[in-house]
This record gives sequence, C-alpha cells and structure tokens, in this order.
Amino acid sequence: MQTHRHIRSFVLRAGRMTHAQQRALEELWPAYGLDPGVGALDLTASFGRQAPRCLEIGFGVGEVIGSLAESHPHIDYVGIEVHRPGVGRLLLRAAAAGLRNVRVICHDAVEVLTAAIQDESFDEILIFFPDPWHKKRHHKRRLIDPVFTATLAAKLRSGGVLRLATDWQDYAEQILAVCNADPRLHSLSDDATYVPHPDFRPPTRFERRGARLGHGVWDLAYSKRTAAPFPVPS
Ligand SMILES: C[S@@+](CC[C@H](N)C(=O)[O-])C[C@H]1O[C@@H](n2cnc3c(N)ncnc32)[C@H](O)[C@@H]1O
Repeated sequence: MQTHRHIRSFVLRAGRMTHAQQRALEELWPAYGLDPGVGALDLTASFGRQAPRCLEIGFGVGEVIGSLAESHPHIDYVGIEVHRPGVGRLLLRAAAAGLRNVRVICHDAVEVLTAAIQDESFDEILIFFPDPWHKKRHHKRRLIDPVFTATLAAKLRSGGVLRLATDWQDYAEQILAVCNADPRLHSLSDDATYVPHPDFRPPTRFERRGARLGHGVWDLAYSKRTAAPFPVPS
C-alpha cells in the first residue's frame, strides 16, 4: 500500500502481548485479518456477501465492535487498530463467539482509508475516544482534522452515519467545528452540537478510566448528505 508520509495519530507502544493473543494473531489472522496491498480491498468478497457495513477505527481491545458484531449478525463489521495486543483480544473474542461478520485490519487507519477502501463502502463509521493528544504542541497528531474528516465522509454511503465520542472537552470542540464545517456532513443533534450517549455503546476501558478521573463524555453524530442531484436542463 503506497501512501504519503503524514504525522501519525498514534505512537506504537510495545504493550504486553499474552501468549493467547500472540497465538490468535498467528492462527486466527487467516480467518479474520485483512492485509491491505495494492489497490482497494474487496470487502464484499471478503465477507462473501453484500450486507450493511460498519467500520470502527481505533477499536482498542474491541469492546464495541465485538459486542455489536455479536448482537447484529446481519451487519458486517470492519475494525482498524494498530495496537497488536488489542487486535489479538478481538480475534479471540470473535473466534470464541464463532463470528463470521468481523474483519480486522492492523494498520494506520489514515493510510488504509486513503489507499485501500473504496468510497461509499460503509453505512456507519465509529470513532470512540480517539487519542486526545492533550498538549497543544501535539494537537497536530489528532486523528480528526478537516482532511481526514473529508476522507471519512467520502467512505460513507449517502445517508450513512459517522459517530464519535471523546472525553476531552477541547477535542470535542475541535471535532464539532471540523464536522460542522464539512459540507457533506449533517449534524444529527437538534442544535448542531452533541447527541445523547447512544444505547448501543458499551463503556470501554478507556471511557471508564476517564470517568474515574472525573472526565465528561461528548458524543457526536453526523449523517452523510444525499448528493444534490444535478439540475436537469428543461
Ligand atoms: C484512546 S484509545 C481508545 C480505544 C477504544 N476506542 C476505547 O474507547 O477504548 C485510541 C485507540 O486508537 C488507536 N489508533 C490511534 N490512531 C490510529 C490510527 N491512525 N489507526 C488505527 N488505530 C489508531 C490506538 O492504538 C488506540 O488503541
């Protein structure tokens, strides 16, 4: 996969990998893993069917995508995460539950979306608790910026939904400003700000840690506008 160099939104931590996670990465990858190569991935072929499709970016240890895939077998789920122990955790969960509707990509989501995912591939995109990069000098590392948001909009089908959450107010305000400014996104909040916590989103480890530290949570949701039809000359 060829892409331009860019500032990454993550720093790969060595992280402890359990023996089971390591084995999962070796043995379960053929069933669940997708390796972006040259050109776009064929997701329909990979799942062996055409079904509604949801993408989760930065799924951590897979609490959200795992629970959604278990409870919605008619929807296909693609997860992208760079942290290998977390990927191993999701593979173990998928195999234990016998899931057939999950595929996992272990690579930088910015590169994957830019180079390996066709436009209009997803009905829903989820990005929960992206790394907040608190310090001002690190804000350039934040995943959500105008360029990546435009890419996200391109990957959604018309009417598809982008859902985000953060526990960092200053990042919430940045996400709000960026998404509200994207001409293809339409806020699902009555006043174009935040939405209630969606029922389907189980609290993740990261969210629970923030709650213990007294952080608030800001949820956002946008739908992709239906492309305006070209005026037909009369
Ligand atoms: C703060 S954690 C939140 C994880 C999870 N969503 C949760 O709520 O527990 C952010 C995650 O995003 C992943 N991540 C950050 N940038 C990424 C990128 N460009 N591509 C894929 N994963 C990324 C990190 O490895 C990390 O696991």
